[in-house]
Amino acid sequence: MKVTYIQPDGSQQVVEGIEGDSVMQTAVNAGVPGIIAECGGSMACATCHVYVDAAWADKTGTRSESEEDMLDCAMAEMTDRSRLSCQVRLTADLDGLTVHVPEDDF
Ligand code: FES
Repeated sequence: MKVTYIQPDGSQQVVEGIEGDSVMQTAVNAGVPGIIAECGGSMACATCHVYVDAAWADKTGTRSESEEDMLDCAMAEMTDRSRLSCQVRLTADLDGLTVHVPEDDF
């Protein structure tokens, strides 16, 4: 399944992901810039912050309260479409998912 990462400058990287992996892990494996994932996916850093593309916002589920708390600490502004990419797991429904990497996570 494919995940597209769009950088702040508009450049895109399409990565082949594995079902069950997180959007963060998929990015880190492929060396996508801007997704640092300092804490390795334990919801303790917010350096894996992404904005889910509007077309996919309904499919990625809802944020937990602890995810929201951590997003509050993210460098880039938190919006309705903000997610910690370590908390979004790839499922068949998410094939083709597109996310935007925030500028200030660098
Ligand atoms: S990798 Fe640290 S919160 Fe997602």
